Amino acid sequence: MPRSFLFLLASSRSDGNTELLARRAAEQLPADVEQRWIDLAKHPLPDFEDLRHDSDHVRPKDGNTGLLFDATIAATDIVIASPLYWYSLSGQAKRYLDYWSGWLRTPGVDFKATMAGRTLWGVTALAHEEFEVADPLVGTLNNSAAYMRMRFGGVLLGNGSKPGDVLRDTEALARAKTFFAQEAPLARFPYEEA
Ligand SMILES: Cc1cc2nc3c(=O)[nH]c(=O)nc-3n(C[C@H](O)[C@H](O)[C@H](O)COP(=O)(O)O)c2cc1C
Repeated sequence: MPRSFLFLLASSRSDGNTELLARRAAEQLPADVEQRWIDLAKHPLPDFEDLRHDSDHVRPKDGNTGLLFDATIAATDIVIASPLYWYSLSGQAKRYLDYWSGWLRTPGVDFKATMAGRTLWGVTALAHEEFEVADPLVGTLNNSAAYMRMRFGGVLLGNGSKPGDVLRDTEALARAKTFFAQEAPLARFPYEEA
């Protein structure tokens, strides 16, 4: 399957630091790797409803849910570009991941088997200079990938508060140059680590 990257922008503002950093990393992808960019603020998902145990499930076809479902299963690589909000994912990013729980029951599509072996990546801007405060976000993405039997490429972190600040984080820009060229091992839960 040729590689195709789905970039999900999950900030509450456009042209912010997370998007700038994600675009810097994406510039390094080979030209034959497809890139699709979807801004979750411009394609908002309705409130997630947990219907896993009490309704007939249908494949999402309409609106932003259908668009995001189709884009997700078409991509080999999913990049969650979420700013750090309260030490974790933004609401937009979290809501998108919540939808995966419903999609696990889509008739005719084994969502878990479809996503297994594909790669989850993160890109995050944060105001704090000590990046370990983003560990909850990194853990959320790592454990979600582990649950889905996906690969996890890690999270590209950059510092910034107002839009454009991240372009002064020279170390983040240097990491962006090789970020997507890294090996992405199969994700493991922390208790599975050797
Ligand atoms: C709702 C909200 C919560 C935030 N929480 C944190 C946080 O927990 N830690 C932090 O370092 N920065 C926090 N910030 C700052 C943003 O992470 C920072 O401004 C970042 O550059 C925003 O990314 P963006 O430019 O892509 O929108 C928060 C900002 C907002 C609006």
